[in-house]
Amino acid sequence: MSTQNPVKATTVKATTRLSPEPHLGQRGVEIQSFGSLRLLPIALSAKARGESAQLLNRILADTTVLYALYKKFHWLVAGPTFYQLHLLFDKHADEQLALVDLLAERVQSLGGIAVGDPRHAAELTRIERPPNGAEEVPVMIGRLLDAHETIITAVREGIETTEKNGDWGSNDVLMSDVLRRHELQVWFLAEHLVDVPLVEA
Ligand SMILES: [Fe+2]
Repeated sequence: MSTQNPVKATTVKATTRLSPEPHLGQRGVEIQSFGSLRLLPIALSAKARGESAQLLNRILADTTVLYALYKKFHWLVAGPTFYQLHLLFDKHADEQLALVDLLAERVQSLGGIAVGDPRHAAELTRIERPPNGAEEVPVMIGRLLDAHETIITAVREGIETTEKNGDWGSNDVLMSDVLRRHELQVWFLAEHLVDVPLVEA
């Protein structure tokens, strides 16, 4: 390019490179694989970060599935307790969705890759799959309680592992946010399986 007319050269470059059209349909190579770690300067060993990312991802996958179960039962619940359970299941779903975000961002903070696609979560989850159709209300509640306990078991193990490794950030998320939320939701669900008379003792 001639150096005698720099203004014209700049104009030509701009008009040939800039376009209002979106670059659609792009694909590329994976730049970080699932299960690998990148180095973020948080003064925590790769071993500790790796163990935490792995256990958090299992809990994240189960939480993604629990969230979806709550929505499924929010839609399919029926009978005399429809309205209160319809609302309760949606409230719990919202709270589980908040935990999904918290867990995923903790994995990313550790340098890992969070489980994001529900099809990936379905591969990893340990929660039993219900039929695609509708079941009776006590069965729905029983399934939710089982799912909570599956997650709580993993959370308790995770609390011990993160304490052993000195990963206090993950430890705090698991204890303060995840465990207490699950224990509260279990209480609210289990009360619906207590067979007490409504009118006469
Ligand atoms: Fe709804």
